[in-house]
Order: sequence, then structure tokens, then C-alpha cells
Amino acid sequence: MLGRVIQTESRVMNEQTWQAVDDWFCDRLIGPDDALDGALAASAKAGLRAINVAPNQGKFLHLLARIQGARRILEIGTLGGYSAIWLGRALPDDGAMVSLEFSPENAAVARANIARAGLDAKVTVMTGLALESLDALIAQGEAPFDFVFIDADKSNNPTYLERALKLSRPGTVIVADNVVREGRVTDPAHHEDDVVGLRRYFDMLARDKRLETTAVQTVGSKGWDGFAITVVGS
Ligand code: SAH
Ligand code: DHB
Ligand code: MG
Repeated sequence: MLGRVIQTESRVMNEQTWQAVDDWFCDRLIGPDDALDGALAASAKAGLRAINVAPNQGKFLHLLARIQGARRILEIGTLGGYSAIWLGRALPDDGAMVSLEFSPENAAVARANIARAGLDAKVTVMTGLALESLDALIAQGEAPFDFVFIDADKSNNPTYLERALKLSRPGTVIVADNVVREGRVTDPAHHEDDVVGLRRYFDMLARDKRLETTAVQTVGSKGWDGFAITVVGS
């Protein structure tokens, strides 16, 4: 609600206050948006899990792509197209985006959401295993992408990075979502495939002298997680 101030007594770290601050930011800085709100409503109606980026995170990605001047964007992990709409809106008139999604059901929801956002001429959803789609893009000599958003099965992040680099140029920005997983990524008690994949992802980023990377933790309406941001050098 406009004008509401977070109460001092509630200014402690917990999921309610993270949510309240996100709501406050989103009310002021984003507001209602038929295409984005409609995409989430249609996704919920179709039974998709609400694991899309938060609105303020979507706008963060959108602004990063604009700051970078991205004309060609690659997304790995479409779900219902929520982040794809944010990123697609960052493109110039002659820009293009490809988003990769394994599930035909998710892809169908995403295509309808992307069309309702007026982005179907720019944003293509490719159905199939992301690794196979990436290899097909590489094999067909696809031009390099300016911006890559990795947000699918985290266990495969190392492979996605390796393929993304083949579809990059010096200056390409690569952003990965969910690199913190409530701190599990650095907790030695955890050995799940996704955190193991994320650790290997960071090892690859740290080792490759062409790459400059940082990572930031995030809290908010989607809990405690984080982004890794990489710039590809020559
Ligand atoms: N980027 C979306 C959220 C993606 S959720 C947003 O923020 O709005 C992760 C998606 O990756 C899911 O839709 C899941 O079906 C897809 N996915 C998981 N494994 C995959 C794989 N191997 N290949 C392609 N897509 C995959
Ligand atoms: C999951 C995947 C995501 O991309 C995300 O942002 C949150 C959760 C998941 O698979 O649990
Ligand atoms: Mg994610």
C-alpha cells in the first residue's frame, strides 16, 4: 500500500519483512501490469509452480539487459514466460530472444503469455532439453548472444555455462539465478545435485581467466537466494 511504512518493531530478518519490503518496492517501482500480472495468473491457473523471479528481480534483469544494450538474449528455463517478458521488453525493435524449456505444457503457457505481452515476434520458446537445444543452436551457427539468463535445472549449470560460452562474444553478460539456495550452496552438509552443480559452476567461473564474475545474495518474496553475474572477456 502506498505510504505505508514498515514498523520498527517488525524490522527483524524474517520472511514476512522480506515480503513486506518487496511489496513496498513493487508498489512504488513497478505497479500493475496487465501482461506480467496476466502471465502469473495464467501460470497459476495452469498449475505451474510459482518459481518465477520476483517482479523486482525481473525488472533487475530487464535493466541489466538494457544497461548492456542487449539485442540478442538467450534464456535457459522459461516456465510460464514471466522472466522472458521482462527480458523481451528490454530488446530494441529488431532484437531477438530465444528461451529454452523442457516441458511442452510450460512452453504452451509461456507462448500464450508472451503473445499477450505483444512479444511473440521477438521471443521464441524452443521446446526440448536445454542441452539439446543449445547444441542445435551451436550446430546451426547461431550468432552470439549479448545476454544469457541461466535459470533451469541447476545441476546442469556447468554444462549450460560451457555451451553458453560457445554462444557468446567478448562482452556477453551471463546471469544465473538461484545460486544461494538458502545458503545450501556453501553448506558442506548438503550434497544435492543442484548445489553440487552450483559449486562446480562457481569453480568454472573462478578458473576461467576470460570471465569476470561476482555473486550477490538476495532476500525477498522468493526467499533467500542469489544471482551470479559474469562478463565474458576475450
Ligand atoms: N525463468 C523462469 C523460471 C524458470 S523455472 C522465470 O523466472 O519466470 C525452471 C524451468 O526450467 C522450469 O520450467 C523447468 O521445466 C525448466 N527445466 C528444467 N530442466 C530443464 C532442462 N533440462 N531443459 C530445459 N528446461 C528445463
Ligand atoms: C526453483 C527453480 C527456480 O528457478 C527458482 O527461481 C526457484 C526454485 C526450484 O526448482 O525449486
Ligand atoms: Mg530461478
